[in-house]
Amino acid sequence: MADSHAPPPATADLFGSPDEEAPWDEPIAPGAVLLRRYACSRAAELLAAVKAVAADAPFRHLITPGGQRMSVAMTNCGDQGWISDRRGYRYGAEDPLSGKPWPAMPDSLARLAREAAAHAGYADFAPQACLINLYRPGARLTLHQDRDELDLSAPIVSISLGLPATFLFGGLQRADRPRRFPLVHGDVAVWGGPSRLAFHGIAPLRDGVHPATGASRVNLTFRKTR
Ligand code: SIN
Ligand code: FE2
Repeated sequence: MADSHAPPPATADLFGSPDEEAPWDEPIAPGAVLLRRYACSRAAELLAAVKAVAADAPFRHLITPGGQRMSVAMTNCGDQGWISDRRGYRYGAEDPLSGKPWPAMPDSLARLAREAAAHAGYADFAPQACLINLYRPGARLTLHQDRDELDLSAPIVSISLGLPATFLFGGLQRADRPRRFPLVHGDVAVWGGPSRLAFHGIAPLRDGVHPATGASRVNLTFRKTR
């Protein structure tokens, strides 16, 4: 009888695990590209860095200016962190929970963001902010533009880890119907130039368990704020 605790069949070795898939580029709009599986080989290091950041600056559910509790839990690292409260959306150097500066951006994160941006055609990307989004099943991010940054010449670099999600990527008008792209563990989205202010969002996360993150998805979004 088959033992349910037996190791996976040898085919996993013959064909490689999905984590060993060679990355490829998928352009989705002018100035926007999905770097498929780009971060897979460094996922463990990235998640360890996220854990260290969250030990200092815990994930929390921010309140929108309209008074809604966001379903995505957030924290930040870097010189600047993105926050929302009754007073609005903004960047700040301190974690309002502790009054201390946000944890420094780990080199592993900054390096990957810079390399991904360069790969996508944006040289010398030097992000000051890394927003870390934690999605549990059901969490979502409604369509929005990233426009709290003073310097819109730099792209957005966004890394997906853990459970898969559906990325909604629209146009420059809120009314433009967004296209839907699956984002899986290790995918990196980069958008800038003519797509810098594209509306985007994440559809409600579906139930699941991922070996790297459990029942969650972690997203790291790097931005040059000024
Ligand atoms: C964001 O728009 O800030 C995050 C997008 C994502 O979670 O992939
Ligand atoms: Fe965004």
